Amino acid sequence: MAMAPTRVLFVCLGNICRSPAAEGVFLSQLQQAGLAHAFEVDSAGTGGWHVGHPADARMRAAAERRGILLTSRARQLEREDLDRFDHILTMDEDNLAAVRALAGSGNRATVTPLTSYCRRHGASHVPDPYYGGSQGFEQVLDLLDDACAGLLAQLEATAGEAETADGRGPAGGSENGGGAA
Ligand code: 4NP
Repeated sequence: MAMAPTRVLFVCLGNICRSPAAEGVFLSQLQQAGLAHAFEVDSAGTGGWHVGHPADARMRAAAERRGILLTSRARQLEREDLDRFDHILTMDEDNLAAVRALAGSGNRATVTPLTSYCRRHGASHVPDPYYGGSQGFEQVLDLLDDACAGLLAQLEATAGEAETADGRGPAGGSENGGGAA
C-alpha cells in the first residue's frame, strides 16, 4: 500500500516572495534527498492581492541564480488548507496570527513559524523583502535554506520514530532480514 504523502504548506502575506521561495527551496532539498515522492508541497498568502500572479521577478531571479525555479502562481489561504495539510509553516508573526484566526478546533495541520527550524541563523521571522533592495532577497533565500533543511531533518526524524513505534523499523531500515551476519 502506498504511503500518503506528507503535505506541507508555506504561508506568507502576498504569496509572491517568501512562501513561493520556501516552496521552491524545500522542493529542491527534497529532490536532492530523493524524497520528493513522499511529499506534497504548496504555498499560499494570507492576502489576496496577487492571486494568479507568478512569484515576484526579483525573487525568481535570485532563486534561479541558485538553481531553483519558482513556478507557482499565487493563491490565497483557505480554511480548508488547515485540514488538507499536515504542516503549515508561517514566515512572520502576522502570518501566524492570520492562520490561527482562520483555524478551528481539531484541525489537521500543525502551524509553526518556519524560522523555529533554523539551525544556523537566529532569526525570529523571515523578513518581507518586497519593499527593499536586492540584498533582501538573498537574505530571505539564505534563511529559507537553513530553515527548510532543519524542517526536513525534523520531519525525517519524526517519520523514523513513527515507523519504529509501528514495529516497521526505522525509515530506510533493513529490507534483508535484519542484517544478521
Ligand atoms: P510576500 O511579500 O508576503 O513575501 O509575498 C509581499 C508581497 C506583496 C505585498 C506584501 C508582501 N503587497 O503588499 O503587495
